[in-house]
Amino acid sequence: MSSKYRIDYHLKRHRKDEFIDWIKGMLSIPFCLLHSYNLEDVMNATNELETDLKGDKITEEAFQRYLAIFQDIESLVQEKIKDNNDGKSRLDQLVPSIGPIFTPLPLARAFAIQSDKRRISARRFVSVSFNDVRHILNTAQVLHFTDPNVSKLKLVTFDGDVTLYEDGGSLTNDNKIILPMLEILSHGVKVGLVTAAGYDTPEMYETRLSGIVEALYMREDIPYNYKQNLVIMGGESNYLFQYYEDKHLEKRGFLKVEPHQSWMLPEMVEWDDNDIKAVLDLAERILHKLKKKLNLSPETQIIRKKRACGIMPGHKVDEKTAENIKPLKFTRENLEEMVLTLQKIMENYPPAQRIQFSCFDGGSDCWCDIGGKDLGVRALQYFWDKENPIKPTETLHIGDQFAPMVGCNDFKSRLSGCTLWIASPEETNELLMDILQRWQK
Ligand code: IMP
Ligand code: MG
Repeated sequence: MSSKYRIDYHLKRHRKDEFIDWIKGMLSIPFCLLHSYNLEDVMNATNELETDLKGDKITEEAFQRYLAIFQDIESLVQEKIKDNNDGKSRLDQLVPSIGPIFTPLPLARAFAIQSDKRRISARRFVSVSFNDVRHILNTAQVLHFTDPNVSKLKLVTFDGDVTLYEDGGSLTNDNKIILPMLEILSHGVKVGLVTAAGYDTPEMYETRLSGIVEALYMREDIPYNYKQNLVIMGGESNYLFQYYEDKHLEKRGFLKVEPHQSWMLPEMVEWDDNDIKAVLDLAERILHKLKKKLNLSPETQIIRKKRACGIMPGHKVDEKTAENIKPLKFTRENLEEMVLTLQKIMENYPPAQRIQFSCFDGGSDCWCDIGGKDLGVRALQYFWDKENPIKPTETLHIGDQFAPMVGCNDFKSRLSGCTLWIASPEETNELLMDILQRWQK
């Protein structure tokens, strides 16, 4: 018999991050035990606002109990790394969907920083939240990469939409993120945009990234070989572009690195073009069917590319001028229905099993792309030096789409390196500034 809990669990499983949920669960125990109020306690809590001393005592007690839990989780992570992520560690047994963790995470220190910043231990009525834990994990990863005693950060990759700019936006010259990105490049770190946006030629990327291209061109203090460390991996893992400039001709932008220049991973080269075509044909048929079945508006567009097929809601068009007047939106339910339908059918389709694909919802559209960000990041790790590739322990991918098993395309990058899960370009900026400030210390 299915309980309501189980139904909810199965329906929402694709949206959950089980590691974060598990940590939240652990922390909810001291929260309940410490703060289980009866009426008298609620009155005390009110008084507490006036008598700082008692408030501080409870806050300190909560802090110590949470801290002890983070110390334990930190040890579990250490143990998992020592076991080479073989899937048999205690942490893997406790959180079966956890996947690899490449570096130690100083979670106790990260908790102390975030508890201070977000007043986590001072809260009496709101327990440690999903976002609290997400921030703690991000800070722990930053602390690791800014510890002078560990291996260096060599490659930072960014997702585009929501990570570097607002959804559908561009990296224009007023974007605050440009400065820390240039600083990271000036440290000799490779920087890649690993985006689902897939175009075979550089023009679209040059327009969207115009701010950083112009700013980089103007920086005389950054050597050219460092500037060439700025690359774009487009269409998840399908198209590679590298920054170039020519001061005599006053030209700058991105040059396509042809796949035959052997940047593609051997497994990708082996994919059969017929399988790729079959997968995209099927995706296109499914999307047409869904358009009818879900009664989507006639403005809905189904787009077929060489390495992707997607569905977009389109625009309301002015009847007189034929101009786009208002962007339309899919409902959240329809977006999820589409991405889960694509994924489930593809999982059982033999040509799709012989290649790799990513079905995801980008917030306002839904795509089936050939390849994935795990491959995109890995191809970059090998791009500069095949004999001596950058390791997952030296790689950091920053993105917003990590939540579900299905439907989020940054999720796969976890297989190739360390990650920061952000919720807005402002958060990306803050984390980059934090890394740079700690490097300077
Ligand atoms: P990302 O956040 O940088 O990975 O970009 C994802 C967004 O790129 C999607 O939501 C789409 O709006 C857009 N996009 C443009 N072309 C493609 C494509 O070929 N595949 C997937 N997404 C695309
Ligand atoms: Mg994104």
